[in-house]
Amino acid sequence: KKGNYDHFMQKEIHEQPHSLTTTMRGRLRDNSVVLGGLKDHLKTIRHSRRIIFIGCGTSYNAALAARPFLEELSGIPVSMELASDLLDRQGPIYREDTAVFVSQSGETADTLLALEYSLANGALCVGITNTVGSTLARKTHCGVHINAGCEIGVASTKAYTSQIVVITMMALAIGADKLSTQSRREDIINNLPTLPDKVSDVLKLDVQMKDLARSLMQMQSLLVFGRGYNYATALEGALKVKEVALMHSEGMLAGEMKHGPLALVDETLPIIVIATRDACFSKQQSVIQQLHARKGRLIVMCSVGDAASVCAGGSCRIIEVPQVADCLQPVINIIPLQLLAYHLTVSRGYDVDQPRNLAKSVTTQ
Ligand code: UD1
Ligand code: BG6
Repeated sequence: KKGNYDHFMQKEIHEQPHSLTTTMRGRLRDNSVVLGGLKDHLKTIRHSRRIIFIGCGTSYNAALAARPFLEELSGIPVSMELASDLLDRQGPIYREDTAVFVSQSGETADTLLALEYSLANGALCVGITNTVGSTLARKTHCGVHINAGCEIGVASTKAYTSQIVVITMMALAIGADKLSTQSRREDIINNLPTLPDKVSDVLKLDVQMKDLARSLMQMQSLLVFGRGYNYATALEGALKVKEVALMHSEGMLAGEMKHGPLALVDETLPIIVIATRDACFSKQQSVIQQLHARKGRLIVMCSVGDAASVCAGGSCRIIEVPQVADCLQPVINIIPLQLLAYHLTVSRGYDVDQPRNLAKSVTTQ
């Protein structure tokens, strides 16, 4: 039931402080993470030669968001596969691989076919899903339920943030045997319980995002630039805008800006740049300067208090978000973009919960 909300997508966006709480419930102990579904398999995962994430759409983006932290804590190469592309290429999968399948529904056809393929090739197959009893949950060797609660809106929102948190917890569990990263792990484990309150804070941007949506509703296109932990945020923000608001939108790696996208920049095309504080901050400052120099129409997402540092001397709209630990920042940063996509859709008069031509669960190829 939608309760006080007009649409399921809106309800699910605003539910995130709660869904993230249930995702973490019973899984955080003093300075450690306990994932019941993985604990007997951690040794095998630690010995694997490669970890491969496999998924479609938003689920793929969630894995991409958590990948840098998993690489950092595990020291194992982590690769990414869109399920359909792995199948098209019949890409190599080995017995020494851990293949991690990410799917909200646990029923996406391409993801399940990639699972069959990986099982046949002898990889350890791990599932990350929101659906107890789904085909994915049943056919994987082990896995983690994200426990975000039922998601009805076709555009995935709360499942995305819960998937990121689960993969982050998975990284903490895999890395738990390493002394060298102990203080880093403890820092993140101590930060995780604070996340729901920070999500409540960022949800207060709702009115501001509604206003921004009104100013963008007539646009043909919207670009989103991110990098590092927030490359995935750019892809996922743009996916939300295109799937529900039916507006062309592309998420781009800021590091690739000079290799093509810069040619698109002019006074009219709106560009969102994600420039919250992390190791890539100064690189994003220079991206913003270069976009200014070409008179780009900029909307900059930055950490609270950073407006002057990201937009010195230029004119841009600012979205200020609360700062959290670098690897958790994607959970915060996607929320204004979910709100923007939602309000753009309502302003443009489209169906929020059942976007044209799309299905919640794509069970055919
Ligand atoms: C489990 C219980 C939870 C209970 C908790 C108490 C279930 C579904 N979960 O949660 O209700 O409160 O113990 O300790 O009964 N799995 C897969 N593939 C997947 C997802 C999960 O094989 O894609 C397997 C896991 O390896 C595990 C089982 O399903 O054996 C349950 O996973 P999960 O719900 O994440 O485990 P717990 O958090 O321990
Ligand atoms: C569909 C949905 O395209 O499938 C998306 O509309 C979703 O929201 C994608 O991200 C993958 O679904 P799942 O259930 O495998 O995560």
